[in-house]
Amino acid sequence: MWRICALLLFGCIISTNARQRRSIDLIAAHGLITQEKLPYDTMPGGYHVFLQPFPSDGYFEGKIKINVTVQHKTHEIVLHAHPDLILLHCNITQLTPPDDELRKENSTDDGEPDTTPKPIGIESSEKVRNKPLFNIVLQTNVKPGALLEIFIHFTGRLFNETSEGLFRSSYVDPITKETKWFVSTHMRPNLARSVFPCFDEPVYKVPITVSIARHQNMTAVSNMPLESTKPHEVMEDWVWDTFQKSPPMPTFSFGLVVSEFSYLSYNVTDDEDVSLRIWARPDYISAVQNVSEKVEKSLNVLEEFWGVPYPLQKLDIFALPNYQATRPADSWGLLLFKESELSGRGSWHLTHELVYQWLGALASPFWWSDAHINNALVRYVTAYATQKMNETEPFNNWPMTMLYSIYYEFSKRYPYGKGTAIKQDSTSAKTELIFRMLNYTLGERTFMHGMQRFMNDRQYKTFFGDDIWLSLTEQARFDEKLPQPITVNEIAASWITKDRLPVVTVTRDYEKSSANLSQRVYLRERPHDVPDQEKFLWWIPIVLVRQDHLQFKNTTPHTWMRREKDITIENLPGKDMFIIVNPEEIGPFPVNYDARNWNMLAHFLCSENRTKIPVATRAKLLHDAWNLAYAGDLSFATALNMTWFLKYEREYLAWDPVFTLIDHIGRHIDSSSVHKKFQTYVRTLLTPLYEELGNEPQEGESEGRAHLRSSSKIFLCQAGYKPCIEEAQAAYNKWMESSVPDEGNPVANQYICPVFKWGTRKEWEFGLQRVINFPPTRKPSERTYLLKTLAGCPNDSKKIERLLDIAILEQNGNFTDNDCYLIFSMLTGGANGYTSLFNFLRKNWDTIKVRFEEKPHLWNTLVTSATTVFKTQEGLDMVSELYVERQSEFGTADFVIEKALKNIKEETKWSNENLPVIEKWLDHNIKTNDADRT
Ligand SMILES: *[C@@H]1O[C@H](CO)[C@@H](O)[C@H](O)[C@H]1NC(C)=O
Ligand SMILES: *[C@@H]1O[C@H](CO)[C@@H](O)[C@H](O)[C@H]1NC(C)=O
Ligand SMILES: *[C@@H]1O[C@H](CO)[C@@H](O)[C@H](O)[C@H]1NC(C)=O
Ligand SMILES: *[C@@H]1O[C@H](CO)[C@@H](O)[C@H](O)[C@H]1NC(C)=O
Ligand SMILES: *[C@@H]1O[C@H](CO)[C@@H](O)[C@H](O)[C@H]1NC(C)=O
Ligand SMILES: *[C@@H]1O[C@H](CO)[C@@H](O)[C@H](O)[C@H]1NC(C)=O
Repeated sequence: MWRICALLLFGCIISTNARQRRSIDLIAAHGLITQEKLPYDTMPGGYHVFLQPFPSDGYFEGKIKINVTVQHKTHEIVLHAHPDLILLHCNITQLTPPDDELRKENSTDDGEPDTTPKPIGIESSEKVRNKPLFNIVLQTNVKPGALLEIFIHFTGRLFNETSEGLFRSSYVDPITKETKWFVSTHMRPNLARSVFPCFDEPVYKVPITVSIARHQNMTAVSNMPLESTKPHEVMEDWVWDTFQKSPPMPTFSFGLVVSEFSYLSYNVTDDEDVSLRIWARPDYISAVQNVSEKVEKSLNVLEEFWGVPYPLQKLDIFALPNYQATRPADSWGLLLFKESELSGRGSWHLTHELVYQWLGALASPFWWSDAHINNALVRYVTAYATQKMNETEPFNNWPMTMLYSIYYEFSKRYPYGKGTAIKQDSTSAKTELIFRMLNYTLGERTFMHGMQRFMNDRQYKTFFGDDIWLSLTEQARFDEKLPQPITVNEIAASWITKDRLPVVTVTRDYEKSSANLSQRVYLRERPHDVPDQEKFLWWIPIVLVRQDHLQFKNTTPHTWMRREKDITIENLPGKDMFIIVNPEEIGPFPVNYDARNWNMLAHFLCSENRTKIPVATRAKLLHDAWNLAYAGDLSFATALNMTWFLKYEREYLAWDPVFTLIDHIGRHIDSSSVHKKFQTYVRTLLTPLYEELGNEPQEGESEGRAHLRSSSKIFLCQAGYKPCIEEAQAAYNKWMESSVPDEGNPVANQYICPVFKWGTRKEWEFGLQRVINFPPTRKPSERTYLLKTLAGCPNDSKKIERLLDIAILEQNGNFTDNDCYLIFSMLTGGANGYTSLFNFLRKNWDTIKVRFEEKPHLWNTLVTSATTVFKTQEGLDMVSELYVERQSEFGTADFVIEKALKNIKEETKWSNENLPVIEKWLDHNIKTNDADRT
């Protein structure tokens, strides 16, 4: 049906609206998705844009000719135009008469049909108030089939505060000291309308011809190769450059640069010549010399992946000085980067923008809602291509960092507490991981051929998210990787439409050589009282590795859990052999086992054969184990056994989850006596590693090794490792000895927290004085950092009391309300902090109550910070007593305290269950080898 549609684009839009609603809608909250659509009465067929920017004056002039075909009888034409665009003149010419006139003329014997262009009278043309629209009302109706040319003359401002729309910026020529201006564009997602009036929706892909007027000393570059240069009709020393007509493209892919940059030129030859130019300001050009090599490598991998050559004859890549946008601009055939980003190491950014040349420009999302799936696929293909290109690059943490963060986000009681930006990031990350999962489970060849099928079908056109799943389904059927009636769509939908992830629990029956697998929602934060959780079910690939056949290359699922709660699998290995489900994090879900299987894994990881399990799987086993224990789903003794092998482990990827473990568990137990033992254990674990890595970086060492050194050092310091604290104090001392300590802070940030935590009161007091005397001329962020560490780091409650006294009781004018919020929030990070805050509140209740009378929000925050985060019976008793004592005096914070008591009860339950287990395990395991006694 879609194929017929593509020919009758108009009919297609109508009929596909219904279909779009059914497609997997990623983020309905996104503002652009709900944006009104332009009426379908007229449709664009091509643009010719004439632009004349005056960079030093900050404005531009433009003319545009837009061909439109009338679809429905109408006397109104609606286009997009940004409110800042000034429209000077508009007229319309009918190039071809409507269908019925042609037919009528054909039927009469006398006379030729009248196909000479004729003007169409305009009743009014004006911008619509408060909307980015331009409305043209005609004097008479125009009828279906008529081809019109709309001519508009306009002018606008060149943006200079941001790198958006058509913007200008400048740099200083180091030799002549002249200011050199340049003009450039960044159109995503919908800023073409700020440069010229147009049908600015991704669905309208039409050819664009571009003409740019420029001073003859400058160069103009656009999407397509230059076709001709002609003298300007009025301005001396100016010329008009006209570029070749582009293939059909979305308006957001439009781009241009007018500058006095230099370039390096290359021919990238594969099947067809692509002329590549790398541009930069003349004194930066040497820094981008190695870019072409990366581009060529990247293009080769991508052409092979898509099975479609790079779609244009040329590619221009710019390093722009002062480029402000967070993302590079990916116009078609024209990429703009920050200077440092283009000249930097690595090729991820470059590849990422190159992928958009196919997925975005060549095949474009139908509407902004489909852009999210587009972006997730682009990110996946980028990661895939980067890995293909850098087979030797040792440190590449993809996708673990992203995966762990979505594990944490989606297992919260309320995911996305902090708003829609996180929601978009997590959803996009999850979709990227689903592409990765499909690549593994369908097989790399099938996945790639499916993508080629998709690209072949949709090139020069638009697509819906569903088109991707459909192509993958067809290919998987063809390759016999997916039996009827399963579709990739339903697999993907079961993951993408939920803000949750599953956990699979494997319970083996060692007598019957079988195992029961069950799925349910993965919840890490307690209590696990998410409503309707039994209704969540996923399509889960069960990829299985067994100890008697340690084969990690075959990633075809043993079976799928087809939205089934439980399944049984048979023919497993004997009782003395472990199994691993979901190795390499093929699907984004944790796996729990029975204790026996866990323990077999723990023992194996300590053996010589450890590396037969790849590092990403070693990391997964460890990460799953401690997080499941943290969630209350696994005994801590079993989970901590999984850390034994770290004694031998030296790969960063496997260590990475350990640092989070130390942080999360450390915080959770830091009010109990177990915490000291835990810190001893941390030192036992990290000291040999750190000593082996050495204090100083070695020449040519891998990024992973450098990360491992810095992380192990930070965590050792926190755990009170003597040499580290002494080093920090020595560095801090230099500051204390300075005669002008308020002029700047010479101490590296990493040293400050250890000094405030383990150092003397005098050292801490010195820091406090620096905050109090902080000169307004220095960067406020430095003061914030200092204040955060002063509050958040100390072990000694006297320091915290002093800070609270001075900031709140004494009302020292140097502390603002915002400082107080900051202090409260930092104090919730550790038991010492919130306990001191609680005692402070209890002791000074009446004074504070009066002081905060006019600031209910500050009062609520104080009560929340001081009461909600306790985790033990002792804390529960303290808070309950306060509640009884002051029952009627909480005022606006009354609701806080009830919630607090509920939370503490839940945490107390956790502590009662887990602390004894942890303590027993620690006693048993550190007895023998406490490496350093502090
Ligand atoms: C508009 O259509 C006419 C006739 O087909 C063609 O000659 C002209 O190049 C088109 N202009 C644009 C801007 O596409
Ligand atoms: C009118 O006649 C011309 C030439 O005879 C033919 O090509 C065209 O398709 C006809 N148009 C219509 C609308 O029937
Ligand atoms: C539209 O305006 C342009 C510029 O003023 C002019 O060259 C052109 O002839 C006009 N066309 C019509 C149909 O009035
Ligand atoms: C941007 O342009 C306006 C007007 O031309 C000017 O007042 C302003 O200072 C410029 N801003 C920057 C950052 O250059
Ligand atoms: C253009 O270049 C010429 C020769 O290099 C120079 O003399 C002139 O000042 C330049 N003009 C501008 C506007 O930069
Ligand atoms: C690229 O190829 C074209 C034509 O084949 C040739 O004219 C040009 O000199 C080549 N450029 C470079 C930088 O090799």
